[in-house]
Amino acid sequence: MRLDNGARPLAGRKAVVTSGPTHEPIDPVRYIANRSSGRQGHAIASALAALGADVTLVSGPVSIPDPTGMHVVHVERADEMRDAVLSALPADIAVMVAAVADWKVASASDQKIKKHPGESIPTLALTENPDILKTVGHHTQRPKLVIGFAAETQDVENNAKAKLERKGADMIVANDVSPSTGIMGGTRNRVKLVRHDGVEQWPDLDKDEVAARLAALIAEHFRQG
Ligand code: CTP
Ligand code: CA
Repeated sequence: MRLDNGARPLAGRKAVVTSGPTHEPIDPVRYIANRSSGRQGHAIASALAALGADVTLVSGPVSIPDPTGMHVVHVERADEMRDAVLSALPADIAVMVAAVADWKVASASDQKIKKHPGESIPTLALTENPDILKTVGHHTQRPKLVIGFAAETQDVENNAKAKLERKGADMIVANDVSPSTGIMGGTRNRVKLVRHDGVEQWPDLDKDEVAARLAALIAEHFRQG
């Protein structure tokens, strides 16, 4: 999307965007993951690049192609995603869209775990993954604009407000991903924009339209200084 003919209002601004899931290995052939197509994160990275931003997209494993016109870093695990995001700082804008696995396996096996029918069934000990958005939101090199997403299945607005505070973000794009909405894995999104000064409900939009609208809002933020 362009604001004016040929306008690139984010030229000279650096943005880091996370997208997709993370995969946390159990052993060389198995992993824990969240559901995420990467469509919304990739669309936001493209929309920011279209407005002239210098974008680093840090993507977990997805089946959609890399967007063009930006630097794409491919990662698997949350630890790797955190490292790649921190390497992209300093930046003016951070948009953390990835569905990061909250936990990883405490000690992943370097050999395939074999099954022994009728005998013991393995249990997984988990530990917490780093919270990348929270790390960026409280970082000494904190970008001027830090935006997170919140996929919720209940009490969307209050959960998003709590995340806004906890993670040191300026905005949370919240969406209701209850199975009945059909949003999960689809091409459309119905979001609420939660800021410190209020909440705005956006209409049902294509993920590309959500991305264009968010990028325009980001450009407006920098235009106003
Ligand atoms: N996020 C992150 N690193 C994590 C977990 C989440 O960067 N380890 C980011 C997501 O990319 C998103 C925001 O934090 O921008 C909210 O993610 P979400 O999973 O909704 O929040 P959590 O704090 O993990 O809480 P919960 O899953 O319990 O709702
Ligand atoms: Ca989570």
